[in-house]
Amino acid sequence: MDQSDLEIAYKIEKEVNPTPWSKNNFFSSLEVGHHSMVCKEGNKIVGFLIYSFVKNESHLLNISVKKKWQGRGAGKLLMDTLLKQSKALGACKIFLEVRSKNIKAIDFYKKYKFTKDAVRLNYYSGKNPDDAMLMSLNI
Ligand SMILES: CC(C)(COP(=O)(O)OP(=O)(O)OC[C@H]1O[C@@H](n2cnc3c(N)ncnc32)[C@H](O)[C@@H]1OP(=O)(O)O)[C@@H](O)C(=O)NCCC(=O)NCCS
Repeated sequence: MDQSDLEIAYKIEKEVNPTPWSKNNFFSSLEVGHHSMVCKEGNKIVGFLIYSFVKNESHLLNISVKKKWQGRGAGKLLMDTLLKQSKALGACKIFLEVRSKNIKAIDFYKKYKFTKDAVRLNYYSGKNPDDAMLMSLNI
């Protein structure tokens, strides 16, 4: 993902995330050097993934696939690439937080054998309050 992809990534984010990242969140994420990637069908971006890598651990910060493209393998391509890149960087663990009501995403992560480590109560506030489920995967 580079600066020219941010507008589309932001559009996808707004479509699928109940508390979407702001444009600024995307800009500063690139600026601080988070790792990012897009998944394309032809030259159209259908999804993206952003993660940070610190001290042998990857932290999955955002994964989003355009609604119309969900369930068609884009998420898998992104997740497989995260796993490959994390291993290449020397990571031994991947962490993530997910809304406890986001069953679709939780099932997706379970497919990759992520397990629940903890729950942060009332982690998400605003219009759609929710707890956060902390999950991780040893790789
Ligand atoms: C979660 C998300 C990224 C998954 O992407 P996707 O493109 O729909 O997933 P894929 O089609 O690549 O599916 C990958 C695998 O997970 C499985 N899977 C996907 N959704 C699933 C679900 N709801 N239940 C069970 N398994 C599921 C698929 O069957 C597939 O397994 P297979 O390869 O054995 O067939 C996508 O649904 C999304 O963008 N959701 C909205 C944003 C979001 O919630 N992000 C996570 C925030 S923490």
